[in-house]
Amino acid sequence: MVKPRPQIDNIAMYSPGKPVEELKREKGLSKIVKMASNENPFGYSPLAAEAIRTEMKEIPLYPEVTSPLLAEKLANKLGVSSTQVLFGNGSDEIIRLLTRTYINEGDEVVMAGVTFPRYKTNVIIEGGVPVEVKMQDGGTHDLEAMAEAINEKTKMVFVCNPNNPTGTIVDKEPLQTFIEKVPSHVLLVMDEAYYEYADSSQYLETLPMLNQYKNMVILRTFSKVYGLAALRVGYGLVAAEMVNDLHKVKEPFNVNRLAQAAASASLDDDEFLHESIRLNKEGREFLTKQFEGMNLSYFPTQTNFIMVDVGAPAEEVYEFLLNQGVIIRPGHLMGYPTMIRVTIGEQKDNQYFIDCLQAFLQEYPTSEEGVLKK
Ligand SMILES: Cc1ncc(COP(=O)(O)O)c(C=O)c1O
Repeated sequence: MVKPRPQIDNIAMYSPGKPVEELKREKGLSKIVKMASNENPFGYSPLAAEAIRTEMKEIPLYPEVTSPLLAEKLANKLGVSSTQVLFGNGSDEIIRLLTRTYINEGDEVVMAGVTFPRYKTNVIIEGGVPVEVKMQDGGTHDLEAMAEAINEKTKMVFVCNPNNPTGTIVDKEPLQTFIEKVPSHVLLVMDEAYYEYADSSQYLETLPMLNQYKNMVILRTFSKVYGLAALRVGYGLVAAEMVNDLHKVKEPFNVNRLAQAAASASLDDDEFLHESIRLNKEGREFLTKQFEGMNLSYFPTQTNFIMVDVGAPAEEVYEFLLNQGVIIRPGHLMGYPTMIRVTIGEQKDNQYFIDCLQAFLQEYPTSEEGVLKK
């Protein structure tokens, strides 16, 4: 057999949320509620749908390499220069591009102990060394410990804010202090995939800092609140000096025409954006209230998902819910053996999920503190 590079032996396959189609086939169920991949349950903008229909006639032609119309529009909206915007086949691709472009064999990359798994995978692929820093008890990044983990071998740091899978943010002041501490030759990647959902006064706006910190990259995406996950379009905001190098490494036609057109049209639909955020907030309040009523603790979330401690083995809750047609993410895959991560859905689905979870928990004897024991 032809042997792959040794780095490939050290990585795990990405484990996505179970697709609806797969569960339908496996269980013969007709009603499936997917609350596993932090997608937007409220769909996507009708303006995007119209733009896709119009763009379809151009499908025989390759797309433009730098998505210039989308770049211009986004840059205007964000108040940055279009030369600071780089689009990827999802922000996943920007993560890959960053490690491909900057990580040498043996370079260390500092990240939180429980965070988005693609950082670690891509670092390992390049022969780099992920340095995972234990989370604080509340499921947040330990920024002081992360700053201490930076040494002369460090090339990159990831801060996922809000963090996936815990949903938590790091507070303004400690984050600002941390940003100041990261040396200018270390790339600081701020992954803000859930930026639009964050409404805490403690959330730090990093965009105005971009011109001051030339080593900072901000990652955002059209996959979450804009509802375009299947089209694959995310972006990085970087110092203009870095863009050329990243362009040399990126696949030329990485963002397809339909994706460019849909993302561009989505930027015109603030109504859809605000409505998605509002409905998510309602769902967040509903679910957290239900968890409190059930005596279950959860991490405070600034996203469209919640990580809740069900006090029972996550695999078992996962299997039980699957049999009811509800797909969530079991926490044992992420280092939280009694927690599950649930994406906030439409109200009827939130209610159905709670009903199913209650049915599961009723089968478990509860101790006095409300901690469940099998
Ligand atoms: C924190 C974080 N970053 C990046 C991504 C990648 O998103 P996409 O490639 O769809 O833009 C995700 C997806 O779940 C995520 O949770």
